[in-house]
Amino acid sequence: MTDAIRPLIAGNWKMNGLKASAAEFDAMLTGAAAVAAKADLLVCPPATLIAAFAAKAAGKTVAVGAQDCHPKASGAHTGDIAAEMLADAGASAIIVGHSERRADHGESDDLVRQKAEAAWRAGVIAIVCVGETQGQRDAGQTLDILRGQLSLSLPGGSKADNLVVAYEPVWAIGTGLTPTAKDVEQIHGFIRELLISRFSDEGAKMRILYGGSVKPSNAAELMAVKNVNGALVGGASLKAADFLAIAKGCP
Ligand code: 13P
Repeated sequence: MTDAIRPLIAGNWKMNGLKASAAEFDAMLTGAAAVAAKADLLVCPPATLIAAFAAKAAGKTVAVGAQDCHPKASGAHTGDIAAEMLADAGASAIIVGHSERRADHGESDDLVRQKAEAAWRAGVIAIVCVGETQGQRDAGQTLDILRGQLSLSLPGGSKADNLVVAYEPVWAIGTGLTPTAKDVEQIHGFIRELLISRFSDEGAKMRILYGGSVKPSNAAELMAVKNVNGALVGGASLKAADFLAIAKGCP
């Protein structure tokens, strides 16, 4: 059943990108047609570029998303950005609970869940990130950590069309290290079981992305793993050629 899920290749540009990066985004728009049969494409640039990228992407097959939002719709929160503002700028998805937000800003599972609900309130998809650290992995706690993060970070009412889970082992982000295909299969299978037990049929249809050092050279192997329904790509999403090559690697 899950084999029918259409893959999503999502690029997380993190704190990279200036107006001049529009040329790279243009190359993604141009090359997207060649991979449209393989996967949906989403690019999440820094907030400063969302509106410009969304204007370029209108009517094209690349969607534009955001990397974080505030749980509230408006108010006295200097420097924060509401989900409604991101949607207004043209974002159709918002990444929440990325491990860099959890680590750098002390974000709790409860806050991440509120942010996912804020994305829904604004009418956009929430991409909720989970993943264990190296220390937790070494201590054999990976599945317990994931169970806890998923149970507290995913809102009730999660559906296949409003929520995407991204499994990103923290130790694999930006390190060039990846889990083996066997480990990914085990962990994604575990996540699938949890999603089905909580959300029934919707959980069976939800996309579970793998993230952490995905690049053109390992994409085909990782994307072929059962219950891997796409990728959340950091560094390799900054270059159109690499980003598109990763999408081409989808089965
Ligand atoms: P890298 O692909 O650079 O390892 O980053 C992964 C990531 O954190 C995507 O959100």
